[in-house]
Amino acid sequence: MNDTIRIVVVGSGYVGLVAAVCFAEMGHSVVCVDNDQQKVDALRGGNCLIHENYLPELLERYRNSRVRFTSDLAEATREAEAIFIAVGTPQSGSGIADLSYVEAVASEIARSLTTYTVIVEKSTVPVYTNEWIRKVMERNGVSQNLFDIVSNPEFLREGTAVRDFLHPDRIVVGTDSERAAMVLSKIYEPLTDGSYYKQPDAIDGFCTSHKPPPLLLTSTKSAEIIKHASNAFLALKISFINAVSNLCEAANADVEQVAQGMGMDSRIGPRFLRPGIGYGGSCFPKDVAAFRCVAEQLGVDFALLSEVETINASQKTRFLDKVRSALWTLRGKKLGVLGLAFKGGTDDIRESPAIELIQMLITEGCSIQAFDPAAMARAEQVLLSGPNLQYMQDAYEAAKDVDALLILTDWAEFSHLDLQRINRLMRYPIVVDGRNLYDPNLMLENGISYFSVGRPTKH
Ligand code: UGA
Repeated sequence: MNDTIRIVVVGSGYVGLVAAVCFAEMGHSVVCVDNDQQKVDALRGGNCLIHENYLPELLERYRNSRVRFTSDLAEATREAEAIFIAVGTPQSGSGIADLSYVEAVASEIARSLTTYTVIVEKSTVPVYTNEWIRKVMERNGVSQNLFDIVSNPEFLREGTAVRDFLHPDRIVVGTDSERAAMVLSKIYEPLTDGSYYKQPDAIDGFCTSHKPPPLLLTSTKSAEIIKHASNAFLALKISFINAVSNLCEAANADVEQVAQGMGMDSRIGPRFLRPGIGYGGSCFPKDVAAFRCVAEQLGVDFALLSEVETINASQKTRFLDKVRSALWTLRGKKLGVLGLAFKGGTDDIRESPAIELIQMLITEGCSIQAFDPAAMARAEQVLLSGPNLQYMQDAYEAAKDVDALLILTDWAEFSHLDLQRINRLMRYPIVVDGRNLYDPNLMLENGISYFSVGRPTKH
């Protein structure tokens, strides 16, 4: 039997809420704090507000027992053995992370702390944040032996967040205190000793190899850098393959074959080598910019990161040019758009290349019929429907009477459409696919002119 630790999680966004219910699933007693009372009420009522596999089930399982929701951080702090800060660190104008929410939470914790508590950075933060939190504690008169600071970054992906939390590749615990390292080791013990995976109702317990994840102990600063460096490296991999895809287009080669050949080298690996319209989401764009700023502030030349960003931005304009060259002119054209979310499996449209492309196409004088299986409600909040933009019931409605159909998000359901039906519905059978979801030969067999990324065009 593992020990039950009293945990507070501050913030109930993707990271905070997933961490809260997963810690409960691991047997701990959790208080999840958010200063938005409406959110707190919704969560108490079992409405989890975000689209994420297993989250509703876990919320339902624990909301009246091991997880409690409150807006009272001071009261929660007094009970806690460990407090995980999982509030937003949005991007400010210059690209640097805005840490004002982290600072506000740290100040409030400082005012309420009465017994030894481990303060854990769970949000993605720049290196040295731990030292700032320490300063906030000291400025508020908190004695040094009442707290320690740990950086325990989260590597979960939207759409598979619960699974990623409970089946991580690794758990990173960065701290300069042995006492704090012990507390974190206890918290993650159900995963690291493998006992969680043996439970009959463990999430995905029987679908995986059950290999317990390693817990990597590092210094606090190293852990802070691990998170930024990991995300920047993954973004770099995507920009790299996107640049290679442009080269393939110029040489009339096939980037899918090139990526396959590269990925078979175990030092490179096949993942994150999918070319497309550029990475989006609430993490990569923000984290690459923040990491670039960290390097600048520390006087380190990391121009490679600027290049990653440049390639990512130009991937969208290249796609726009591709649509233009497929259609000759854009003004007055009616286009079907499949996908609004920044990737398949989520309703999140933050920094979605699809949203940006729709805005560019409308500016060029196109009218759009869009469909997304989950993200239309969110999209409507930023892209109001009107004569130039309509939201449709399904992919086939989106294809009706259009001059071309664009695939902008890699939803699985977009990869097996009835192509004969699509062909019949469209004014002209032209598909411009920003996610390479189809075999170009299959499109050709179905009489569709097919333009994709980094592959020879078939029409
Ligand atoms: C990303 C990381 O993958 C997580 O490890 C990390 O914890 C998270 O950010 C975070 O910092 O919180 P996420 O933003 O959910 O997770 O999305 P990804 O699945 O990584 O995709 C990011 C973007 O890259 C999407 O727009 C996706 O379409 C694009 N992508 C991904 C490609 O264009 N090609 C690929 O091969 C892979």
